Amino acid sequence: MEVITPIIYSDTEGYPSAMLSYDKQEDFVEIKDHNGVALRVYPLDEYILRFRYAVEGLFEDDFSYAIAPDYQAKKVDLDIIEEEKLLTIKTKAVVCKIAKRDLRVSIYDHQGRIIVDDDKGFHWEPNAEYGGYIVQNSKQIQFNEAFYGLGDKPTDLNIKGKRFQNWGTDEYGYHYNTDPLYKSIPMYYGLHSNIGYGIFFDNTFKAYFDFGHERKNAASFWAQGGEMNYYFIAGPELMDVCRRYTLLTGTPELPPMWALGFQQCKWSYYPETKVKEITSTMRKLEIPCDAIYLDIDYMDGFRCFTWNKEYFPDPKKMVDELKEDGWKTMVIIDPGIKKDLDYPIFKEGLEKGYFCRRMDGPYVEGKVWPGMCYFPDFTRPEVREWWAGLYKELIAEIGVAGVWNDMNEPALFEVESKTFPVDVLHDYDGHQTSHRKAHNIYGMQMARATAEGVKKFKDGKRSLIITRSGYAGMQRYSSVWTGDNIATWEHLWLADTQAQRLAISGVSFCGSDIGGFIGQPTPELMIRWIQMGIFHPFCRVHSSGDHGDQEPWAFGDECTAMYKKFVEIRYQLLPYLYTTFYQYHKEGSPMLRPIVFYDQTDRENIDRDYEFLCGDHILVCPVMKPEISTKHFYLPKGEWVDYWSDVSYLGNMEYNFLIEIDKIPIFIKKGAIIPNYPIQQYVGEKTIDEVTLNVYHKVGTEYSEYYEDGLMKMEDTDLPNLTCLGTKIV
Ligand code: NOJ
Repeated sequence: MEVITPIIYSDTEGYPSAMLSYDKQEDFVEIKDHNGVALRVYPLDEYILRFRYAVEGLFEDDFSYAIAPDYQAKKVDLDIIEEEKLLTIKTKAVVCKIAKRDLRVSIYDHQGRIIVDDDKGFHWEPNAEYGGYIVQNSKQIQFNEAFYGLGDKPTDLNIKGKRFQNWGTDEYGYHYNTDPLYKSIPMYYGLHSNIGYGIFFDNTFKAYFDFGHERKNAASFWAQGGEMNYYFIAGPELMDVCRRYTLLTGTPELPPMWALGFQQCKWSYYPETKVKEITSTMRKLEIPCDAIYLDIDYMDGFRCFTWNKEYFPDPKKMVDELKEDGWKTMVIIDPGIKKDLDYPIFKEGLEKGYFCRRMDGPYVEGKVWPGMCYFPDFTRPEVREWWAGLYKELIAEIGVAGVWNDMNEPALFEVESKTFPVDVLHDYDGHQTSHRKAHNIYGMQMARATAEGVKKFKDGKRSLIITRSGYAGMQRYSSVWTGDNIATWEHLWLADTQAQRLAISGVSFCGSDIGGFIGQPTPELMIRWIQMGIFHPFCRVHSSGDHGDQEPWAFGDECTAMYKKFVEIRYQLLPYLYTTFYQYHKEGSPMLRPIVFYDQTDRENIDRDYEFLCGDHILVCPVMKPEISTKHFYLPKGEWVDYWSDVSYLGNMEYNFLIEIDKIPIFIKKGAIIPNYPIQQYVGEKTIDEVTLNVYHKVGTEYSEYYEDGLMKMEDTDLPNLTCLGTKIV
């Protein structure tokens, strides 16, 4: 093979040099440069190419918490062509050209249009402090390119011009542009010239993303250790990129339908009489609701898996009585285990060596709600199994319906870093490492252990888990919420963009603390939030409780009536929402869709982040400002029917709508069939033997899907965990 003189950079070290050789192996093509740098290109299917680089030719163990364990790469017939300056690898969908002089990568479609092109491409710096390398990559920003993704970032939908960090952080009362937050999802989209693509940088170290913030024409990502290991995902439709990414990192099983019902929470409902007062008032006022949450005060001194017997003398009796009335009881569980030798769980964890230690021996301890705590190493299979087993009493004996995992960044009080020191050791499923690498996946592994425990003690039946922290792929185990937001109008908008962003980042089962966790919403803000929140897959009111009440009756009778009206709409739409969840589960389709994901051909759409589609056919235009009487907005392509008046409107046009307090603009795609249930006070209250199909007639064809798995006919909605056995009506 021809040997090419390496290109000399001012410091040759830090960049690949010229290609020395390439070799086609069964699963990948390996390319080596003159200095020992190796690049492996794995085609996972026609649309997904994985790139791994090893500075000294030594690859790490190929292990990922993000990739779905059942993901099957397809057999791809590659066409490999070596020319004077290029090595070209072709699949049926993309053409990947690797420059022989410096291994820079350019990816084209088969019409010869550039999709993504290396700027500096892969480069690195030795990490003087910890060893290994800071691994970096930069791509050119194409003309008019927009960027999306990255999970829970509280910012504009289009993230061009911004820089972000991924390092799960407890951010009480975050604001616009606060970064980082609780979750780390290193996946972004690019869109230019109507070509959408995705980059998933599967590296759990502290990572950074820059979309033209530092250098106008470069989109870069880098991490403080580990491998440059990323997946390029071709579209060109953003929706297809999303489906491919979501199937790569996995989708959740279908939840019980009640998990899509309305949920009421506060920090904290106690004692038992308070809980009953809330649940009975809900029923008395006939505001549908399925779940009631117990925050940390149900525990004995905040010790996980215990009960405060003064507040809750007979938890099983209470949970049973609530169940009789259709309630599902959810409880919070945090990772910190109180350092207390009289506390059996602490003792057992200690004896069995299940808690995380510092590199030089001592346990990592930190202050959280119970005082000083030790923390299980959820990255160790044996510890996850132990943790799963701890749910026996709560789930199998007391009858708790599901679990809420909090503080799992992990969050610590009174330390500047708000978390573990980086020298804490983790098993990382047999790939021992430090907290530098395990931090971002700690919360996800906790949620995983919880999900396994709950499932085990529910005999495999469906349940609901919710987590605050997580990494790419967390959606396989849990739903999520957006953490400690504030009762302000700005936060209503942030909740909107965060939920859309999470959905396109693979985590559709998401929602915000409706009404805001911190502070007290005005009645108007509360109503506007409910009006939007009923279209978010996870629909829960939560507040810190010390600023006032946020129950539906806390804002006056007029407000209660509006609250009720919107929650009832949610219950009518349950079969539609469940079908949307089914599409997510089956195809990876995001349940919430930014307008640009609905129509990426229209440049008008690239920055739109107020309106969104919930599922295939419902367009929601939340009201984000106080005291407005008109709202100017743009209807995307197609024909739309006003939900309230049945009047039709043509898309691709701007409208000025009159706004009333008891309505937000909701439009149904013309031609759609929307299944509706009768209003129930909770899922399973009524035996549903008839579903109303609302036909929004049009001349022409529109595809509508309705998925039913018999759930609503069951009094107890915990069906065995067999998904997709249902009827699909198209
Ligand atoms: C922090 C969580 O974000 C919040 O939702 C919860 O109420 C408190 N911890 C207390 O558990």
